[in-house]
Amino acid sequence: MKGIILHGGLGTRLRPLTYAGPKQLIPVANKPISQYVLEDLLSSGIRDVAIVLGETFPELVREHYGDGSKFNAKISYIYQGKPLGIAHAVGLCREFVGESKFAVYLGDNLLQSGINQYVKEFLSGDYDAYILLKEVKDPTRFGVAKFDEYGKLIGLVEKPMKPPSKYAVIGVYFFTPLIFPIIEKLKPSWRGEYEITDAISALIEKGYKVGYSIIEGWWIDTGKKDDILQVNALILDERINRKITGEITNSKVEGRVEIGEGTKIANSIIRGPAIIGRNCLIEKSYIGPYTSIGNEAKIQNSSIEYSIIMEGAQIENVERLEESLIGRKAKIKRAEGRKIIRLHIGDYSEVEIT
Ligand code: G1P
Repeated sequence: MKGIILHGGLGTRLRPLTYAGPKQLIPVANKPISQYVLEDLLSSGIRDVAIVLGETFPELVREHYGDGSKFNAKISYIYQGKPLGIAHAVGLCREFVGESKFAVYLGDNLLQSGINQYVKEFLSGDYDAYILLKEVKDPTRFGVAKFDEYGKLIGLVEKPMKPPSKYAVIGVYFFTPLIFPIIEKLKPSWRGEYEITDAISALIEKGYKVGYSIIEGWWIDTGKKDDILQVNALILDERINRKITGEITNSKVEGRVEIGEGTKIANSIIRGPAIIGRNCLIEKSYIGPYTSIGNEAKIQNSSIEYSIIMEGAQIENVERLEESLIGRKAKIKRAEGRKIIRLHIGDYSEVEIT
């Protein structure tokens, strides 16, 4: 079994962060989103992985993952260039896939449960394709499953105005090479993309065996700032344990907090779940629950909660920072002023409130 991670797309809803890198490399609990995806593939026994790259800083993706050896994976890269749709991206992987069965995992989707059990189900059930569904409040934003009156899956509709069910198709798919000739015959949709939902519907129409599971637990498609903060909170909550290696002086560190090597914490309160990377300086500050702070960040005389502060960012005299996504090397310094500041700013941005 092989794996494909889709790492393209423009990430327009995450500007300005996506002016400096692809959305899938945005860190959640100090690790790129797509690395969780790779780890999900690895933990279900899939080591031979192709990453499909888009036009947004593909070199950063190569730099992070390399040939995969540091993740115990074998990684190859395939260029998609323009974002012409999931089916187009999958179609480019025909040679990579060869005769194998394979999983396709959107590099910005995260699942609480991982994919192990679904890989097993797909492989043991002799399916031609297998999809995962989740009941959602607003199905119009997704591909949606259509069932007949007996509950049999009869097709998928992409972003329907009138959803045929509440079950969204999540961004993990399992296929056999049978999908390739079907992808070749697809026509672009109204949004100009080759839709994987159309390809799967065609498989169903032709009578192939397409299975599905309705997944338990959370699933987040991290398209916007709030999704990223939410997934950060969930991952901190569920996967961070207390592990403190920094130097702590005159401070209180409560609960599940991970603090990296070389970090200095002085006259501060840190309340988990939270993660603070390596070589940071936290002084006279409060770091509240659901906060991730990247390596080399400097936080002084400030209070932060439910936020992601990326590598090398500096925050000084900010009385209360909440629900914020702060890019690499951004600087926020405050003199006098308002108490709560909400920000969504990108790498190398500088904000001074005086
Ligand atoms: C894509 C798929 C859609 C699926 C969604 C899951 O949507 O086209 O069927 O439900 O991923 O994240 P897009 O991210 O292109 O809006």
